Amino acid sequence: MRRVRVGAIGLTAMPVVTAASSVPRSATAVDRPVATDELDSLDPEARRAAELQGFEGKVGQTLPLPTGGKGPIEVLVGIGSRAEVGTDDLRKAAAAFARAVGKHNSIATNLVGELPDDDRADAIAAVVEGAALASYRYNTYKSKPNGSLERIAVVAKGRGMKAEVQRASAVVDAVALARDLSNEPGGSLTPEAFAAKAKEVGAAAGLKVTVWDERKIAREKLGGLQAVNQGSVNPARFVRLQYTPAKRTRSRVALVGKGITFDSGGLSLKTANGMATMKVDMSGGGAVLAAMSVLGPAEVPVAVDGYIPLTDNMTGGDAQRPGDVFTARNGKTVEVLNTDAEGRLVLADALSLAAEDQPDAIIDIATLTGSASAALGTAYAALMATDDDVAARIEAASVRTDEKIWRLPLPPEYRPQLDSAVADLKNIGAGPYGGALVAGLFLKEFAGDTPWAHIDLGMSAMTDADRDILVKGATGFGVRLLVDVLAHWDG
Ligand code: BES
Ligand code: MN
Ligand code: ZN
Repeated sequence: MRRVRVGAIGLTAMPVVTAASSVPRSATAVDRPVATDELDSLDPEARRAAELQGFEGKVGQTLPLPTGGKGPIEVLVGIGSRAEVGTDDLRKAAAAFARAVGKHNSIATNLVGELPDDDRADAIAAVVEGAALASYRYNTYKSKPNGSLERIAVVAKGRGMKAEVQRASAVVDAVALARDLSNEPGGSLTPEAFAAKAKEVGAAAGLKVTVWDERKIAREKLGGLQAVNQGSVNPARFVRLQYTPAKRTRSRVALVGKGITFDSGGLSLKTANGMATMKVDMSGGGAVLAAMSVLGPAEVPVAVDGYIPLTDNMTGGDAQRPGDVFTARNGKTVEVLNTDAEGRLVLADALSLAAEDQPDAIIDIATLTGSASAALGTAYAALMATDDDVAARIEAASVRTDEKIWRLPLPPEYRPQLDSAVADLKNIGAGPYGGALVAGLFLKEFAGDTPWAHIDLGMSAMTDADRDILVKGATGFGVRLLVDVLAHWDG
């Protein structure tokens, strides 16, 4: 009856990225970066082509030039105003280049040279991320796979190039893993399948991986995870990942990721449209697993613990009823008035466990509310935090990675909305407004005194169109952000 098809998950092969001091002979396409204020310096033929086609050198614009039939085709790639070129522009320009030459299997890019030597490492990361992530294709179930890039040569001079390219390439593979997990249908990425994948990925990355089954989950009193799992034929799992850096460290950060492998809403059932994309409801958990798979290559100097509660939210015969009460890991009782507010229930237990281990900080990441996207749109995730230092670290990482977040408050004025007539807490607020904040306030009850930040992905976990480095479907949002924030944490 149960299907566990682990083999189908996470097989997307990303392009092989290499460092090169000049354009390799094997390249079939190469870019020529052009700034908006440098069109005049193009040779007459290219200039004419640019005029005819409306190519102005803006970021995102590309123009393949006619060739004499020999050598790689050349593509003009806009990088915007010369004085203002930044890593975000290079990331987008590289993505545009990769898209423009989608049919070519081997490309070479000169974009790294557009930033000063001091910014070399950031430029390499941006170009590799842009070109490779825009080339991601989810082909697991395609009889005829969508073709994509096989090789990217990053052309640049200087030392340490190779290591930088390898590091960026590892991060790109991690984002692809997160996208694969989120794109995988809820019927095949069961909690067991996710846990099996975590074991496989964790072992390969040198992490310690512990998986709790339903009996252990009961013994450990993860009441929220059990309550949500009641309506499902798929048993719940709880995954713990542990990363120890090469050098000794005193610092320890906990990552908690929502792992709802499918969210039907439970008996507070979603609409057909509302649940159509809910296979991505484990994207927070996927981001935690994927980020932790590259902490070694990213040379993260601090110890990191990952916690991923896994279940689907279904409507089986013993599904929790609105009005049911459960006892969470930390002893608090919760009245469940809306079973579709399930993410906070499984995160409650995971946050309690993380807090018990007394890390320096806890960061959770979750597709927690539609409300986050009502406030910020689909490109931004919401950040809430009890600690300004942790929030500032995440905001800095957001700027560096261009994974957009915006901080929202945790208003004490709204806390009474969570008071229940029959239990310590209820799981929803009083009305339609401020849902992301109320959800944040609910989670806060379980993080204890540990400095804590909460990232509500809302709908940023997916996109309905190809845009810059994103490809229709799962975005892998949060992987680069988490890796970056941890890489900058002082050991
Ligand atoms: N997984 C959803 C939130 C969600 C919805 C994320 C759409 C991305 C896109 C979550 O479990 C949920 O259903 N939240 C409810 C909470 C409400 C019942 C208080 C929501 O946001 O509507
Ligand atoms: Mn829900
Ligand atoms: Zn959900």
